[in-house]
Amino acid sequence: MGRMHVVITGTSRGLGAALADQVLGEPGARVLALARGFTAEQEADPRLTPYACDLAELGSLPGRAALAGFLAGAREAALVLNAAVVEPIGPAVRLDPAAVERAVAVNLTSAVLLTGAVLAARPDGVPLKIVFVSTGAAHHVIDGWSVYSATKRGAEEFFAHVAAEWAHDPGVTVSVVNPGVLDTGMQEIIRGADFAERDRFIRRHAEGELRPPAHVAKEIFDEYLAV
Ligand SMILES: NC(=O)c1ccc[n+]([C@@H]2O[C@H](COP(=O)([O-])OP(=O)(O)OC[C@H]3O[C@@H](n4cnc5c(N)ncnc54)[C@H](OP(=O)(O)O)[C@@H]3O)[C@@H](O)[C@H]2O)c1
Repeated sequence: MGRMHVVITGTSRGLGAALADQVLGEPGARVLALARGFTAEQEADPRLTPYACDLAELGSLPGRAALAGFLAGAREAALVLNAAVVEPIGPAVRLDPAAVERAVAVNLTSAVLLTGAVLAARPDGVPLKIVFVSTGAAHHVIDGWSVYSATKRGAEEFFAHVAAEWAHDPGVTVSVVNPGVLDTGMQEIIRGADFAERDRFIRRHAEGELRPPAHVAKEIFDEYLAV
């Protein structure tokens, strides 16, 4: 494929780290990793550009110029919006306002802003694939998950609009992906939270039903990113 440049959010661990590894398995691929921290392997890898930012602090996101610099020389470009937080979990009557604000910024607003900036930074004529990692929880009620569900559902609506805006240009594709239940830190947080369906998540973990992030990263790559 050659010269695929991919911006990925939330690469420090979980699915995002596995997606970065998967992309870097391609000859000539480059990754712009947007995260609060990086592994030693990531910092030592010349094909990965670490971009330290807190997705809840919208002023720390890369703007059009930084993104254009990364995408310069790409034959294929992609943006994978993977980072998210499942917290706050709990009834609406007692949600922590600061946690709500962070979840909306990480799960929804940062995805909106980065999408606009990457679309503006896309080099002329270079195909761009946008992939938003969503969740099945965007489409049904799980006790206590109102903010996570609403932010993911809101983002899905945003990407439906972006897809319509770019329907005239086959060079831009927009995909919304449900990765299934993953064996990551997010599931640990869920198993430790206080909500009615918690036992179902504890049981799925105990029965080995959680999907390894590397397998899911390969599936996402093969279906949505590979040329
Ligand atoms: N796990 C599941 O079962 C499951 C199911 C359906 C959908 N998903 C979706 O799959 C995606 C990946 O989830 P995961 O399971 O890999 O989650 P995870 O293990 O909790 O990892 C989340 C990643 O997002 C990053 N992140 C969170 N807040 C951030 C912030 N303010 N600034 C920068 N980075 C931030 C984390 O970085 P830090 O290390 O800095 O916190 C981490 O790299 C998410 O969109 C999630 O909603 C997951």
